[in-house]
Amino acid sequence: MKGLILAGGKGTRLHPVTKAVSKQLLPVYNKPMVYYPLSVLMLAGIRDLLVISTPEDLPAYERLLGDGRQWGVSFSYVAQPTPRGLADAFIVGEEFIDKQPVAMILGDNLLYGQGLQPMLQEVATLTKGACVFAYPVRDPERYGVVELDGHGNVASLEEKPARPRSNLAVMGLYFYDSAVSEIARNLKPSARGEIEITDLNREYLRRGQLRVQRLGRGAAWLDAGTPESLLQAAMYVQAVEERQGLMIGCPEEVAYRKQFIGSGELRSLADRMGPGSYATYLRQLAEEAG
Ligand code: G1P
Repeated sequence: MKGLILAGGKGTRLHPVTKAVSKQLLPVYNKPMVYYPLSVLMLAGIRDLLVISTPEDLPAYERLLGDGRQWGVSFSYVAQPTPRGLADAFIVGEEFIDKQPVAMILGDNLLYGQGLQPMLQEVATLTKGACVFAYPVRDPERYGVVELDGHGNVASLEEKPARPRSNLAVMGLYFYDSAVSEIARNLKPSARGEIEITDLNREYLRRGQLRVQRLGRGAAWLDAGTPESLLQAAMYVQAVEERQGLMIGCPEEVAYRKQFIGSGELRSLADRMGPGSYATYLRQLAEEAG
């Protein structure tokens, strides 16, 4: 399975913070925001990754992430010239996707919790249809909203409904089969002139091929698109990391634990990073391994 990380957009809800810096490069506590969604795809076992951003911001992502070899993965990059909606990622990325199944994660989504790795690995074996994730929120009207019937089947799916039919938001993590680019190309732009991910999911629903995986209290799903949610995400990460002494969203650690790289490579990553607590953490990890 291939993976897309969407790191475009103008980040207008964070202006002026994002006037000169791409939103998904802002720090969430001790690492760039994009590390968190990237770690989620790596945890799913996805190693062939495409980063999509604006033409202005893409070089910064290349500087940060390189070609991926240092983490035992591969990064490609493509610019999205105009923000045409989330589903446009499958058109912009069509050549990279190359008619394979593909996962997409939004570059400002943080997902953390017990038991996520086996679930993600299982979903990443998908070859037919689509899978999305539902998560209870207090303010569903801000999101795609899914309504489930008593059997867990999808009763409705709507984008930012004024009167939500449930409290289940659709998270910014999606898994699709190889039909996705073609379906995306046939979508009509919405009233706001974008091709909507929810319309793409509705097409899978119409075909009877949309699976919804529910996540509950045991998982934390945060987005970081406003000053409040950015601060909350940072405080969450800081609180958990401080308590456990374990990092959230550390791609080097994921690469190491999933054996994309060995302890020697981990140690040299730490050494190249120099001092600071992030490098110290990597060095400790490498030492534990002996
Ligand atoms: C987008 C999607 C929405 C989804 C959300 C998750 O909304 O359109 O369906 O629930 O991401 O973060 P946006 O962040 O573009 O408002």
